[in-house]
Formats: sequence, C-alpha cells, structure tokens
Amino acid sequence: MPQRVISAETRTGALLADRFRTVRAETVALASPLAIEDQVVQPCEEASPTKWHLGHTTWFFERFVLRVRQPSHKAVDDRYERLFNSYYQTVGPMHPRSDRGLLSRPTVAQIHDYRSRIDDAVLDLLESPSDDPELADLVELGLNHEEQHQELLLTDAKQVLFANALEVGYRADAVAPRGSGTVQLEFQFEAAGFTELGAAAAGFAFDNERPRHREWLEAYLLANRLVTNGEYREFIRAGGYTTPELWLADGWTILHQRRWDRPLCWSQDLEREYTLGGWRILDPHAPVCHVSFYEAAAFAAWAGTRLPTEAEWENAAQSATPVEGNLRSTGWLHPAPAPAGIRRRQLVQLWGDVWEWCDSSYRPYPKFRPLKGSLGEYNGKFMCNQWVARGGSCVTPPGHVRASYRNFFYPHDRWQFLGIRLAKDA
Ligand SMILES: [Fe+2]
Repeated sequence: MPQRVISAETRTGALLADRFRTVRAETVALASPLAIEDQVVQPCEEASPTKWHLGHTTWFFERFVLRVRQPSHKAVDDRYERLFNSYYQTVGPMHPRSDRGLLSRPTVAQIHDYRSRIDDAVLDLLESPSDDPELADLVELGLNHEEQHQELLLTDAKQVLFANALEVGYRADAVAPRGSGTVQLEFQFEAAGFTELGAAAAGFAFDNERPRHREWLEAYLLANRLVTNGEYREFIRAGGYTTPELWLADGWTILHQRRWDRPLCWSQDLEREYTLGGWRILDPHAPVCHVSFYEAAAFAAWAGTRLPTEAEWENAAQSATPVEGNLRSTGWLHPAPAPAGIRRRQLVQLWGDVWEWCDSSYRPYPKFRPLKGSLGEYNGKFMCNQWVARGGSCVTPPGHVRASYRNFFYPHDRWQFLGIRLAKDA
C-alpha cells in the first residue's frame, strides 16, 4: 500500500490539532472533581467561577481565531461576547469581573455545549488545507491562554472551597510529601556583569517576554531554596505583623484594613493550612505560600535580606534547566519541602511550588511592542502598579513556564500560590 504523502503544513496542522484536543480536554478534566454548585461561586473578585473559565477560554478561540480566520463562522450565541469578554475594551462592553459569580446562566451544561461546538469548528479549521501563516500562532496563543486559565481554575477553586465551612477539599488524594528536616539555607554567589534576559525571537513566548535585551547586574547572592512555613511562623511569633519598621507604608495600611496576621489559608493558631486536598497540619519544612508582596518584603527585611529582582532571578534560572519541579504534573497541588541532600551551589524549587515574588515592578522591556490589534491588550496595558513573580507553581501546567516567563500581580494579591525566595547584595 503506498504511503500517504503528508505535506509539511498538514503535519503541523495535525500536531497542533492533537495539542488542541489535549489542552482543551485537560481543562474539562480539571473541573470534573468539582460539584456543579462549586463551579458557579465567586468568593472574591480575583477568583472567577470555574464555569466562567470554561466559557471564557472558549470565547477566546471564537473571538480571536474563528471570527477572524473562518469567514463562514456564525457566533454560537452573540450574548456570550459580553459575558466572556474579560478585559478587551477594543472588543466591546463586558460583564463586570466582580459579578461573574452572579451568572446562573448559561448553565454549566450549556457552557460545555459551547465548548464542544467551538472545539469542532477550530479542529475543522486546523484540519483543512490552509495558507494562513498566522493561524498556527493564534491557536498556540489560545492554548497558552487556556493553560493560564487551567492554573487559575485550580487557584480559584481552592478559594471557593476554602470559603466553605464544610471543610472539603478539591481532591482528597492531592497530598504533597512532608519534610523530615529543613535544608540549610545558603546563598549562591552570582558575579557582576551584563546578562541577557527575555525570550529569544523564535518559539512561543508572550509579548511581555520580548525583546531579549542586555541588563547590567551588580554581584548578588540568591537563596538556594524557598522560605519555609516554619521560618515564616517564627517571623509571625517574633512580632512580624506588629512591627511597622519592617513594612512598606502601603503594606502597613492594608495589613490593618484587612486585619492580616498570617498567610491566607492558615488557621488562626498557625498550626494548620487549607490545601486543595483539604485542611492539613502545617508542614514547617514546606514553602510558605499565599503571601502578598508586602508580606514577602516584610519577611525579607526581618531576615536582614531582600527579594531578588526579576533580572537576578532570570539570570540564575537560565542555567537551571530542564524546567522540572513540583508543577501540576506531580499531582500534589501544593508546595513541597526542598529535597534533602542537595548539592552545594544548587538552586532548588525554582520551577513550580510557588510563584516567587520579585522586587521588580512589571514594566515593558526596552523596545517592547505589544501584539497587533485587540490582542495587544493581553499584557501591555497591565504594565503599571503590578509586581513580577517568577518560576511557576504547583498548579502550573507542565511545559508552560520558562526562564523568561513573567507573571504579575498586584502587591496585595494573596490568592495565588505566591511565596518567597531571598536575596542579598554580595
Ligand atoms: Fe483570559
């Protein structure tokens, strides 16, 4: 039987179609341990309902792939544009972010139907002959966007269940290994010099990671591991939350407004924490998480250190490959203690566990250019008043994060898996 000749375009399309099926199915699988009622609730403005993530990621493909690349596409429901538009002002009006939990309709079942119809249409497009050079790039962006929302789906579901007095977990078998000791904290020396930062021109990266450029670094020291729960508890017991000298002014104000006296998801007695597996005894050797930038900076000040800049973090992370660690693929869904027996000068927990707060405001790189059209709103317009976090977390999809990857949050944000790595001047 003669072998079928497959063109390079078809091969690429088939690979992308496979990846599309896989990523889309993963999102549905992540929602499946949740009850329908869990998927509708919005416990705080940051945490969107599961069903909104399911709908919004689908709308992203409909709006930015099908409507612009498939002239015959007819909108599944014109009203979804307003409901599932997150923040694209150039697209049109949108339902307020803070009110996503008020949307009892469309139902979860209707959103799954929406997903299926858009999946079929995108797959048809990918599997038909095409001379559209931008289609693959747009679909790849849509898949990376979907992966970001997979992470948010888990993060947000954690807050939904944490807010519930029944004390249920997302998945009872989500258990991180417990530590038997804390790895000694050491600081690795990095020499002064120019470093190259940012994503290279080839391959997928978000626009905010480009262009690659040079930056000067003074010599610095970077901690070999993350700050632990035990260390953070010492900070609390030493009066960390009642010592104004440790805090930035905005942090001190918000600490009082919101009555912060411990990380989010910790019990009042500092002995237990809520995890995606349910309430657990706090592991003193595991990394602290759910702390704001203000708390991270206050801890660093108390420890006589500081947070690394994003340039310092990326400079060290570029040689810390492959990108392996406690990402979502471990199934633990919670940060884990640093492994015992690490080598001298080895940095651990760079990938996964918790996003690491950097002492860098989220700003454009020199000669940054946002994507063209409405997708230019994806990253660039947020480059004011937010702070950078690096390295991925225990709910980041494997393959999603890299050394140049820039996440960003408001300095008071705590709902994400956000933690602390320390640095010092050399
Ligand atoms: Fe989005």
